[in-house]
Amino acid sequence: MDNFEFHLPTRIIFGNGSFSKFAAETARVAQKVILVTGRGSVRQLGLLDKALQLLERAKVEVVIFDRIEPNPRAHTIDEGAAIAGAEKCGAVVALGGGSAMDAAKGIALVAASGGSVWDYVRKGPGIMRPLSSALPIITVPTIAATGSEANSGAVITNEATKEKGVIFGKPLYPVTAVIDPALTASLPPNLTADGGVDILCHLLESYFTGNNESPIQDRITESIARVVIEETPKAVRNGGDLSARANLSWASTLALSGIPESGRMGSFPLHGIEHSLSGHYDISHGRGLAILLPVLMDYTCAKRPERYTQLGERVFGLDLSGATPEEGARQSIAVMRQWLEGLGIELTLRSLGINEERFEQMANDALRLYGRGKDFLENPRPLYKDDIIAIFRAAL
Ligand code: NZQ
Ligand code: ZN
Repeated sequence: MDNFEFHLPTRIIFGNGSFSKFAAETARVAQKVILVTGRGSVRQLGLLDKALQLLERAKVEVVIFDRIEPNPRAHTIDEGAAIAGAEKCGAVVALGGGSAMDAAKGIALVAASGGSVWDYVRKGPGIMRPLSSALPIITVPTIAATGSEANSGAVITNEATKEKGVIFGKPLYPVTAVIDPALTASLPPNLTADGGVDILCHLLESYFTGNNESPIQDRITESIARVVIEETPKAVRNGGDLSARANLSWASTLALSGIPESGRMGSFPLHGIEHSLSGHYDISHGRGLAILLPVLMDYTCAKRPERYTQLGERVFGLDLSGATPEEGARQSIAVMRQWLEGLGIELTLRSLGINEERFEQMANDALRLYGRGKDFLENPRPLYKDDIIAIFRAAL
């Protein structure tokens, strides 16, 4: 097992109906807040009105910032931060999916520490502004996917350059996450599926790339992954299945909370590659992951067949006792594809209207933003520029 430090400072309030508690939680932190949300669904679902009523009852003054796009843009976040500063807001409340939560973190950071949010994005060793402080953040997720509700990351897109990069830092941990799975019941099947895939990939990145001597981490990962494999199709079929929604919401939070992979860190090559894809083409992050995941598994499989066989046996329940590691790995990849297709996902880039045109630029971006100063992404089979382009081609 690798050495690690683990500290999750976010207080988590979880359960169907817990939404009603978020305003009182907010009042403990600030008397005036900026409420950050997307451009449509939260208002259309009536959640914004409910949130405003609850905040009024808790005597918290609110400035609404409802301009966050999926794959949130740096310039929109900077505008939100300017408003939060001018209005002297004492905290930031995020009500929405990963995009609203990440944008809220960016707003909280820039409002407290200045500059543009893009200054803080990791662009290689040392090429970023250090994070000093941020306004307190309260998250109320409406999608089970990113885990942003209780982690210290934010993923930001630079619209001008099409780069999509990450910010990490202790000031970005939300003070409180109020996780009400019932808020996710309105998600349509495609977004539910994309969210399930995102959760699964958060679990599998370190499982595929981390060390082989961490049975606690492996078993935690496999248990949550198995639940995601079982529950996502239920929520896709019946959005109102609140039991499935609760399981996915908690899986989302746990998967990227640091718990599963502490001691088995590994790397996040699939995310590095996918972020270039959604940065350039503005597609759903989970959809991009679904298309790339089996391709990356195929590409890497010969380097770690036992690992993939273990996934097939423990997560998908395959009987691979008579199979060689290579055969086991192939069957695991096949069952992964079937599962993804069973969610209604078409596993090709062409289905999203994407062609080869930008593959080279996307590979360069992935290496610059996620290569940690090296000319490859860390993976059991290291991914150099040509490898990343080959993965995009195989995903066409
Ligand atoms: O835009 P609005 O109108 O708000 O609608 C949203 C959006 O169109 C809609 N939506 C949200 N809640 C809903 C709903 N529709 C119906 N019912 C609800 N309850 O869903 C659409 C997608 O929302 P978005 O927030 O973009 O999705 P998601 O939660 O998947 O977040 C994706 C973003 O998070 C980043 C991704 O790269 C992407 O930018 N990630 C953040 C991470 C983190 N901070 O830790 C890690 C992840 O790996 C990921 O990279
Ligand atoms: Zn993700």
